[in-house]
Amino acid sequence: MNYDNILSQFQNGITTITINRPNKLNALNTETIQELHEAFNMADLDKSTKVIIITGSGEKAFVAGADISEFADYDVEEGQELSAEGQELLFNYIENLSTPVIAAVNGFALGGGLELAMAAHFRIASDNAKMGLPEVSLGVIPGYGGTQRLPQLVGKGRAMEMIMTAGMIDANQALNYGLVNHVTTLEELIPLCEKIARKIMRNSSVAISSAIKAINANFKDGINGFDVEIEEFGNCFGTEDFTEGTTAFLEKRKADFPGA
Ligand code: COA
Repeated sequence: MNYDNILSQFQNGITTITINRPNKLNALNTETIQELHEAFNMADLDKSTKVIIITGSGEKAFVAGADISEFADYDVEEGQELSAEGQELLFNYIENLSTPVIAAVNGFALGGGLELAMAAHFRIASDNAKMGLPEVSLGVIPGYGGTQRLPQLVGKGRAMEMIMTAGMIDANQALNYGLVNHVTTLEELIPLCEKIARKIMRNSSVAISSAIKAINANFKDGINGFDVEIEEFGNCFGTEDFTEGTTAFLEKRKADFPGA
């Protein structure tokens, strides 16, 4: 499939989706959000894709935010629509995807860019990365889930400070905050993501998608995460992966999961 604003490449079980608007520091306009939705959807449906990596093109930015030029003259209804559509199409969509998503944060991840990285299942940053939610400096607030996911990841007080000051933190502070799991050089960023992806791929993809559901349940209103865990745990017992995983262990060999 051909896209105007992103690239999607598959190799050895990994689909790498790259936002490709380097002249605009990969800012997210509505067309890019739509293309990302399609690319994530296709990768999730493709059974040979075991892990998805999302990154930005160039050496400067992951994503420098939502495209400010697009919404500068929006009114109240248009603003709400922008936020609701974006959350549904991309940010909540990625968070709830059954295929693991790693954000490779390769530079500025600001506003919608940090919100995109936070919607991924976990984040790895290059040492030049800078992260922040600068929306209040534009007279608006984060609208793609940032007010909810940042406190979940770094705690309420740190999130309040980051959002109120509109400031940026560097990669090491993000590591210290638990916002990213690892920091490496720009050259090693994708290789490290791929190394971790290969570790993930050795395991049951069916069990991993159940784990994503159960972990996410902890953060959903009106849903009891322990109940979801019980249900997903039970479901695993009906899968071919479970039969293969337990049989392989008892036969003292490596499991070869069918992914079903
Ligand atoms: N929306 C639209 N365009 C953006 C953008 C955004 N969020 N972020 C960067 N761009 C564009 C710039 O307008 C510029 O385009 P131009 O060359 O056509 O003028 C281009 O990307 C390069 O950005 P520039 O500002 O010249 O780079 P810089 O190195 O001087 O500064 C940043 C980098 C990230 C500090 C700066 O671009 C910035 O503050 N961006 C906005 C961040 C933000 O507020 N995001 C939240 C949006 S809700």
